[in-house]
Amino acid sequence: MNAPDHQTVLINLDDRSYPIAIGAALFDDPLTYAELPGASSALIVTNSTVAPLYAQRLQAALQGKYPNLHTLTLPDGEAFKTWQTLNLIFDALLQHGCDRKTVLFALGGGVVGDMTGFAAASYMRGVPFVQVPTTLLAQVDSSVGGKTGINHPLGKNMIGAFYQPLMVVCDLATLQTLPQRELSAGLAEVIKYGPIADLSFLAWIEDHIDALMARDAKALAHAVKRSCEIKASVVAQDEREAGLRAILNFGHTFGHAIEAGLGYGQWLHGEAVGCGMVMAAHLSQRLGLVDAAFVQRLTVLIQKAGLPVTGPRLSEADNAGRYLELMRVDKKAEGGAIRFVVIDGAARAAVRSAPDALVREVIDLCCT
Ligand code: NAD
Ligand code: GLY
Repeated sequence: MNAPDHQTVLINLDDRSYPIAIGAALFDDPLTYAELPGASSALIVTNSTVAPLYAQRLQAALQGKYPNLHTLTLPDGEAFKTWQTLNLIFDALLQHGCDRKTVLFALGGGVVGDMTGFAAASYMRGVPFVQVPTTLLAQVDSSVGGKTGINHPLGKNMIGAFYQPLMVVCDLATLQTLPQRELSAGLAEVIKYGPIADLSFLAWIEDHIDALMARDAKALAHAVKRSCEIKASVVAQDEREAGLRAILNFGHTFGHAIEAGLGYGQWLHGEAVGCGMVMAAHLSQRLGLVDAAFVQRLTVLIQKAGLPVTGPRLSEADNAGRYLELMRVDKKAEGGAIRFVVIDGAARAAVRSAPDALVREVIDLCCT
């Protein structure tokens, strides 16, 4: 049974269903992991920033369950979400003689989680893994739903696999050590769920944005839980993004272009998504789907969350052309046509293409 301040959201995926545990003081409690299958080996994958904060505590919690327990510390940053870094995980697994029952634990933000998940999907054709997300972005989005992978120099998250974890452990206490910029980046993905799925949640975020920015524990707990519920519902309906799941990419088409165009790591993923949502909202308005007041409402909220609402210039010669070029390398693109997630102000998001001329107008309007 849950402790009073602990909650569980279930992801329903038949035999791959799993719980998302949400609460404080969870990740270093051995009881959190009691239901996981036993195994001789486990590998905690983390990074050089998170390791000194949390790795020893996770090790202590897991020691009794996994006799052959090791920790691998990767370099920190989006720029390291690469084949080379992924290989370090395979090197460690092989060097420690890890077998196919080995459990991987991803301790960190979305970069560690995406890479560890992909390593778990491919090591010996698949070993179990657990997500222990320590950023707001990872708790509300990346650790949930089974998208794993790495970047390619020509496109973000272009190499990867759908592979679900055994469980997700969202320890809200870990959010207290996050830099403010990272907290804001996570809020971008929280805000995203409002315009695509739940207008009452959007209103709740507007009412609680100051509390969220101040890391009020109750406000964060609700934001994580409601975000996970919405994501769980979408993923349960469309695990492999045959259609509906693409709405979770609201703001991401423009955002990924910003990330790739500036070089990964210049803008945080959440910052690019925040600005990308403003651009996608303007595109929705130009397509006649949403009114100017809703675009303004969203822009104000994104700004209050400490996120950029003006896009960077990616080319002096032809800025809009460079955005378009980058956006064609997107998993939603079909036959070279870019497809955007658009909103209608009534929380019914859709995916559609748009004339280049219209997209150019939006980019010109939104970039400095
Ligand atoms: P991140 O993993 O780079 O973490 C952000 C920074 O915070 C890093 O420097 C990290 O070391 C540090 N950090 C992590 N936890 C901390 C803590 N508790 N205290 C102090 N510092 C801490 O970035 P992110 O925003 O968590 O994730 C972004 C990544 O997630 C991107 O690569 C993005 O593509 C991916 N993503 C994936 C999905 C998915 O569905 N798989 C969804 C959204 C985003
Ligand atoms: N973050 C988008 C998705 O999980 O589909």
